[in-house]
Amino acid sequence: MGYRVAVVGATGNVGREMLNILEELEFPVDKIHAIASRKSIGVEVGWKDGVIKCEDVAQFDFSTVDIVLMSVSGAFSREWAPKIGRAGPLVIDNSSAWRMDPDVPLIVPEVNPDDIEWAHRKNIVANPNCSTAQLVMALKPLHDAATIKRVVVSTYQSVSGAGKAGMDELWNQTKQVFVLGPSEPDFFPKQIAFNVIPFIGKFLDDGYTDEEAKMWNETHKMVDPEIKLTVTCVRVPVMVGHSESVNIEFEHPLDADEAREILRDAPGILVIDKRESDGYITPKEAQGEHAVFVSRIRNDPTVENGVNLWVVADNLRKGAALNAVQIAQLAHERGLLGRKVLA
Ligand SMILES: NC(=O)c1ccc[n+]([C@@H]2O[C@H](COP(=O)([O-])OP(=O)(O)OC[C@H]3O[C@@H](n4cnc5c(N)ncnc54)[C@H](OP(=O)(O)O)[C@@H]3O)[C@@H](O)[C@H]2O)c1
Repeated sequence: MGYRVAVVGATGNVGREMLNILEELEFPVDKIHAIASRKSIGVEVGWKDGVIKCEDVAQFDFSTVDIVLMSVSGAFSREWAPKIGRAGPLVIDNSSAWRMDPDVPLIVPEVNPDDIEWAHRKNIVANPNCSTAQLVMALKPLHDAATIKRVVVSTYQSVSGAGKAGMDELWNQTKQVFVLGPSEPDFFPKQIAFNVIPFIGKFLDDGYTDEEAKMWNETHKMVDPEIKLTVTCVRVPVMVGHSESVNIEFEHPLDADEAREILRDAPGILVIDKRESDGYITPKEAQGEHAVFVSRIRNDPTVENGVNLWVVADNLRKGAALNAVQIAQLAHERGLLGRKVLA
């Protein structure tokens, strides 16, 4: 038996990947709907060997589907996800709107799969921030082994993490700078072509950004509220693929060799760690891949029990669409799809 699935935000970066990944993971789909805004009615998006036409969210009857994969904005999701959840389907949402809601599970299936059991409270499951998803994939197995005390992260986040508009700005600016010289930023706050920007999201009162706060809040919700985590989020002129430099201090002894072995056995992680030019991963190689890659695993000699890692993943896949479809698979395996009642 297959499910009736709606992808909301189907013309976007994440939505298109969701359609690809539903097929790649052979998720049982009986009927698929691509949903976007009114301006996209009739726009064709790829599905399997052909195309399907987009429908308008405002005209769609969500009681006719079993599951909704949603990737629009936080404001959109705050308005639409509860309405859709009440209409019956399970909503798996990619925005930040519901991640910290105590009645909404925030899930990376390799990290905290059992939280799916309380998804029926609002019929909404949240997908984490792209940078958090790949980070917790690496942290969880190491935390289980030696209890993480403190983590220091610097991110190198690609422009696709900011949606289609971010990719367009890098592309157009690169061409313009190359031909005509410096250009005025439009979407990003500063020039992103041939530059890096140590600011993502919006400033909070303490000088951090909301993107940075998402990373520690979401790690606390999914892994352990006792982990101390500090982070600097940086936008870099890369189209797809987020990278992270991660320094970890443990409560108990754990060295780089042991960390390497633990990560080799961890689900969804691929360790590429040799001291040669092909012995580490860059975002270019992670693009289009399902795995979270870990490279450059080293002891940190400045603390008693510490290691450094380099963590890279495709932000549109494990950071968003792949994780969302894996949540759908988890709900399917646990028999949670197709229920029509809210608690
Ligand atoms: N990109 C990432 O790495 C990543 C990772 C994790 C989470 N997320 C989150 O996922 C969400 C989508 O990101 P994205 O990168 O896919 O953005 P995007 O490329 O800008 O796509 C946005 C999608 O939302 C649709 N949309 C916008 N306003 C709408 C409305 N009023 N009604 C219906 N549909 C509407 C757009 O449809 P139209 O074409 O019709 O406007 C488009 O399909 C965001 O909340 C983002 O924070 C993204």
